[in-house]
Amino acid sequence: MTARPLVIAVDGPAAAGKGTLAKALAAKLGLPYLDTGLLYRAVARRMVNAGLDPAGDASVEAQALQQQDLARSDLRVPEIDRGASLVAAQPAVRAALLDRQRVFASETGAVVDGRDIGTVVFPDADVKFFITASPRTRALRRHRQVAGETPLEGSALDAAVSEIVARDARDSSRETAPLVQAADAVLIETDGLSAAEVLDKAGEIVALHHTRR
Ligand code: DC
Repeated sequence: MTARPLVIAVDGPAAAGKGTLAKALAAKLGLPYLDTGLLYRAVARRMVNAGLDPAGDASVEAQALQQQDLARSDLRVPEIDRGASLVAAQPAVRAALLDRQRVFASETGAVVDGRDIGTVVFPDADVKFFITASPRTRALRRHRQVAGETPLEGSALDAAVSEIVARDARDSSRETAPLVQAADAVLIETDGLSAAEVLDKAGEIVALHHTRR
């Protein structure tokens, strides 16, 4: 009998290191990688480009989403950080994107990163991780991703931390599929850990799962 394809859920708040881990884990295991945040970002981008406020009903844009919308280079900008969080709070948008996520992983398996992967999209995922770090660490990491080694300190750091805390609050307090750790998810706090150390920890847990399969 062929084992069903492996699905690994990687959830957690913004800039905790989910994407870095999920991508590296996918490469290590030879599985496809799905960044579900991109789906919400692409819906927000469609709203903005159509002259619509992302806080308004985005279900039509979610249903109309095309593969090429995900390849845009302007999805990781502050306007879309905020817009994605607003469209992601809408139940009709989440419903429109659910099947797309499930279909992606159903045949080949996948490492899937997001907020509700282990709780809603793949509640039966083989291994679930919840990756987090303090708001300060996350603000500094996000800044480094976009601005390289330019320092972030003083009031600019305070503002970046506040923005992260506000986004966490929106993502965690929404009624549909809020950001919460699944009961059976393995928590990894990444403050002070390198990407390689996080990958090692996660790899050990996946290997343990394999021995039990
Ligand atoms: O991971 P990210 O920063 O690219 O996600 C963008 C936004 O989309 C963020 O506000 C959380 C939301 N999101 C979500 O609600 N559910 C997911 N599975 C992935 C992202």
